[in-house]
Amino acid sequence: MIQLVYTTQDWYQLPTELDWLTSAERERLDGFRFDKRRRDWLLGRWAAKIALLQLSGMPRWDIRRLQIDTAPDGAPVPMLDGSPCAVELSLSHSHDRALAAVSRGATALGCDIEFVEPRSDVFVETYFTDLERVHVDDTSPLNRDSAVTKIWSAKESTLKALRVGLKVDTRSVEVIDDGNRTGEDWGIARTVVDDAGEFACRWRVDRGFVLTIATRDPVEIARAH
Ligand SMILES: CC(C)(COP(=O)(O)OP(=O)(O)OC[C@H]1O[C@@H](n2cnc3c(N)ncnc32)[C@H](O)[C@@H]1OP(=O)(O)O)[C@@H](O)C(=O)NCCC(=O)NCCS
Repeated sequence: MIQLVYTTQDWYQLPTELDWLTSAERERLDGFRFDKRRRDWLLGRWAAKIALLQLSGMPRWDIRRLQIDTAPDGAPVPMLDGSPCAVELSLSHSHDRALAAVSRGATALGCDIEFVEPRSDVFVETYFTDLERVHVDDTSPLNRDSAVTKIWSAKESTLKALRVGLKVDTRSVEVIDDGNRTGEDWGIARTVVDDAGEFACRWRVDRGFVLTIATRDPVEIARAH
């Protein structure tokens, strides 16, 4: 079974010193013009490195051996001592919180974190499939915001696993939740993609955020702290 490690990291958990960044990362950080982008990028790198340390079993002081580069399509590329690592990495940030997921072994992987907040009917009509809209309509008003956020996040995770992001129509991914749960306290939905088959998408609500992790293959999941 493919091993997957994930972590969520909040802004307050970030070390005050930046000595855990490589010099190339420091340079990239200094190049950001907007504070929000700088914060998101930094927190994402921190979360990615925490998850990578846990997956590899490397000690915390080796953190500077890790560098998270960016591929031309925007996806993160984990490096160890200047060479690409044989792992898959995905990351996401929302409201000063980041989610990173890493897996050992070749499976397409995408993750997403979204703050649960109201999204309009127009949003649902524009971005969701007919089946997803029916699912939202059948949900009690009390749970509507988290149901909509979950579907949206599962789409984003899946589109990241496909390395396309929101360049494609979000209705090309359909989220089907049969109410299944894994043994590790995650719900598990299926995401079915036009011309690209099916993904398993884990989801959970965690302190007001929806977390989703989409993978092509079955994975064994563990949390890094
Ligand atoms: C991928 C995408 C859906 C992320 O959406 P978002 O809600 O704004 O942001 P999230 O915080 O959830 O995720 C951002 C992370 O997704 C990752 N990402 C970006 N593009 C990606 C892609 N094509 N495939 C997989 N992951 C990608 C990055 O790690 C990014 O964080 P970072 O830039 O700090 O490293 C969005 O960026 C997108 O649609 N990109 C389309 C491709 C594009 O325009 N790329 C720009 C080329 S640089």
